[in-house]
Amino acid sequence: MGAADAPPFRLDGRRALITGGGRGIGRACALAMVQAGAEVAVTSRTATQLDEVVGAIEALGGKGIAIPTDLGTADGATHLTESLHRHWPDGADILVNNAAISPHVAAVEELEDDAWSEILRVNLQGTVRITRQICAPMLARQSGAVVNITSIGSVRALPKIAAYNASKGALAAWTKTMAVEWAQRGVRVNAIAPAYIETEMTAEVKRRDKLRGWVEDRTPMGRFGQPEEVAWPILFLCSDAASYVTGTTLYVDGGWTAA
Ligand SMILES: NC(=O)c1ccc[n+]([C@@H]2O[C@H](COP(=O)([O-])OP(=O)(O)OC[C@H]3O[C@@H](n4cnc5c(N)ncnc54)[C@H](OP(=O)(O)O)[C@@H]3O)[C@@H](O)[C@H]2O)c1
Repeated sequence: MGAADAPPFRLDGRRALITGGGRGIGRACALAMVQAGAEVAVTSRTATQLDEVVGAIEALGGKGIAIPTDLGTADGATHLTESLHRHWPDGADILVNNAAISPHVAAVEELEDDAWSEILRVNLQGTVRITRQICAPMLARQSGAVVNITSIGSVRALPKIAAYNASKGALAAWTKTMAVEWAQRGVRVNAIAPAYIETEMTAEVKRRDKLRGWVEDRTPMGRFGQPEEVAWPILFLCSDAASYVTGTTLYVDGGWTAA
């Protein structure tokens, strides 16, 4: 491949499914992909947020599809896959596994079974299940890209969210296995590990002076990231510009894991 054929950072003609696309990083990713030429489907449990995102996509002149569902259940995943395939009979070209929860803040010894189950059911099992379904057509036609949103919590001890960190560590390991198993089947699989990004998930951390200061002190760049600053690296990994990139984690963390 010569310089003249340098691959574009564009997604024209691609169809991308973004889970958790109703707000935060998923929303920013949806809009970035539409600006790069993709058609986008967004899913989450909150239909009003999905409708707002589709409105924003259309305001950019793009095409968007909203499919409300609960990815924490098998029925919810089946509903999403069947609905998506009614719109796109050949399936998606891109899957961004972004939906996740982090509802419990507690010390390791206080984190009960129910909390562990809830987090692993959505963040891990829900992600794995929908990936199997959405990637089947990708494997059949030997073309596709998957990006799993993990966290610096997969490699750093973010305090009081052990189950969340473990769910993201599991996704990081799964990303590598999947990438290797599919490396010769046309489907690339990578992960993005953000540090603290300004979204609803981190609103409480940002609001409380002590916690905000803790994050800013530990981030070499000295600030929270913005959702768009995660969306652009996701876009890169899904584009042909990353055609030789699979099985890797890109840290989008203001330098956190380098320090
Ligand atoms: N913000 C950060 O600092 C940060 C740092 C590292 C990693 N991350 C990761 O980045 C991703 C996006 O996070 P965010 O900060 O943008 O969080 P967010 O604003 O809370 O967005 C999470 C999205 O996931 C959806 N979701 C949650 N549970 C779901 C379920 N059972 N079924 C379907 N959709 C579900 C939510 O919609 P509903 O609630 O309406 O279903 C929402 O659209 C997550 O994987 C998160 O772990 C975030």
